[in-house]
Amino acid sequence: MILTEEEIREAAEKTREITAGCDTARGSLIPVLQKIQDRLGYVPAPAMEEAARHFGIPAVDVYGIVTFYNQFRLTPPGRHRVKVCMGTACHMKGGNIIMESWERVLKIKVGETTPDREFSLERVACVGCCTMAPVLVKDETVIGKMTPTKVDGMLFSHQLANKKEGVPQ
Ligand code: FES
Repeated sequence: MILTEEEIREAAEKTREITAGCDTARGSLIPVLQKIQDRLGYVPAPAMEEAARHFGIPAVDVYGIVTFYNQFRLTPPGRHRVKVCMGTACHMKGGNIIMESWERVLKIKVGETTPDREFSLERVACVGCCTMAPVLVKDETVIGKMTPTKVDGMLFSHQLANKKEGVPQ
């Protein structure tokens, strides 16, 4: 995903702010990356490069860590975040089918954001509503008893609402 000049500048600046009060011990790298993700919502390449500079290690090492742990996002989150529960109960009730349905309608894979940045797709662990499995969380709303048809319906009503508000499709 291509970042804007503003996003590149913001990523580097925020990373410098975070690393400013931090030592350069290798053990501090993951906590720094977590703080970057908290501030930016993801860990983009300019932030990895800035962190690498601070710790005096190759940027490829930082990249290796970010891609190893699935807690880190490489792309900016979308305006709407779809989180599919992959906890045991939801998995047993077809959570993977719900995930595949979202991947199909949004034409992205889990962990990615649509090119228009409208949606991002994530997997989450149990959200505590197992009786409603399979469950997803769209932004802050928990929706249970999901089916592929419901997925189609949710996207359709979202597009309809955007159309009414004049948001370009
Ligand atoms: S496993 Fe999905 S809500 Fe508990």
